[in-house]
Amino acid sequence: MERITLIRELAGLVSSNVRIRGWVYNLRSSGSIAFLQLRDGTGRVQAVVSKNDVSSESWEAASTATIESSAIVDGIVKTEPRSPSGVEIQATRVELVQRAAEFPIGKKEHGPDFLLDNRHLWIRSARQEAILRIRDEIIFALREFMRLRGFILCDSPIFTPNAVEGTTDLFEVNYFDRPAYLSQSGQLYQEATSAALGKTYCFGPTFRSEKSKTRRHLTEFWMLEAEASFMDWQENIQLQEDMMAHVVRHVLENRKEDLKTLERDTSVLEKSAEGRFPRLHYDEAIKKLQLLGSDIKWGDDFGADDETILTKQFDRPIFIHHYPAKIKAFYMKPDAERPDLALNDDCLAPEGYGEIIGGSQRIDELTLLEKRIEEHGLPRKAFEWYLDLRRYGSVPHSGFGIGVERTVSWICGLEHVRETIPFPRLLNRLEP
Ligand code: 4AD
Ligand code: MG
Repeated sequence: MERITLIRELAGLVSSNVRIRGWVYNLRSSGSIAFLQLRDGTGRVQAVVSKNDVSSESWEAASTATIESSAIVDGIVKTEPRSPSGVEIQATRVELVQRAAEFPIGKKEHGPDFLLDNRHLWIRSARQEAILRIRDEIIFALREFMRLRGFILCDSPIFTPNAVEGTTDLFEVNYFDRPAYLSQSGQLYQEATSAALGKTYCFGPTFRSEKSKTRRHLTEFWMLEAEASFMDWQENIQLQEDMMAHVVRHVLENRKEDLKTLERDTSVLEKSAEGRFPRLHYDEAIKKLQLLGSDIKWGDDFGADDETILTKQFDRPIFIHHYPAKIKAFYMKPDAERPDLALNDDCLAPEGYGEIIGGSQRIDELTLLEKRIEEHGLPRKAFEWYLDLRRYGSVPHSGFGIGVERTVSWICGLEHVRETIPFPRLLNRLEP
């Protein structure tokens, strides 16, 4: 079998004979020349087919190709200064694998609903391809960072018997005639695994039946949740900062072309890759917001608008810490000096993107945790195993969860998280 060359390898192969295979994403022909623009997932290149240089079968194939037809093209790699990759192919043979029916996505503007209905085809467009490659880079960098810092992957279950982040947005499923819930966070299990292995993380799909139709909410999203024994809330923030800087650096280094395709202004990303994210106490953030014209009062949680105005003041992500315990989850450890505040943090992405990470130090003391479970009206029995972690060698410990889609959305500079995952699940969308 003939060796297959990937489109991304072509620039280094000027004057060679190659065979490429992929899809025709655009085409035009004028008389006796056909221009086939091909993509193979690794890049895009134009093949020039001259009627006089190829067999009649090849000419027939090239001149009757349609958008998204699949094809195998042999040819010689030529320098072409006008091409983004610097090369094109002078074809010597063209074979259609399948001649595509009329492709529903054209060059004209389509509305978001039409594109989402055709998501299985929309992902072939240059922008979507770039976003999905950056998503892959972000996930790779996150996993690499966890490995570099000594965290062990320990998957949390998806079927769970209880809530973690409040009871209002759980997806209930019928688990052999008893109710179960799709996981809304793997954290509690990470508290168990980190007491076994020291530092652990899970990375998987997370489900929330939030009735929010915003640009930041999916009903199924991917979250990496890390947990470390003996780590306090300040070390936890530093870890999150190092991780974000690592991820942004990876994307800047390895996905330059994709950022260019997305026309992403990279100046904020370059700042973010340096680390040194500003840290604001909740009290200070509230004062700042009020000065900026928000009607937020002390004790309120931040609305999306508050996060937007606040983050626009900074050139990189920021951390807000010490939110009131009352507006946060049951497991967060209170500050010893101001017990109405929790030892928690949110990492807010700049340019108006807002929260991408939530973290905290956890309550490590049995009686206080029992009290919180009761105050939050949580079923005590389902939490007995979790309370055991405070009975047998309890230690101070902290962790966080980073939402992949919100991170992709910010790094790519997108309007909406629906483009950050191959097949988004939204309030009103289960298909395709
Ligand atoms: O702030 P959250 O709810 O925190 C937790 O779940 C903790 N148990 C994490 C931990 O400490 N182990 O969610 C964490 C992150 C958010 O900052 C956000 O990025 C993402 O998960 N997220 C969502 N992303 C998309 N759609 C949704 N509906 C999301 N809800 C949360
Ligand atoms: Mg949160």
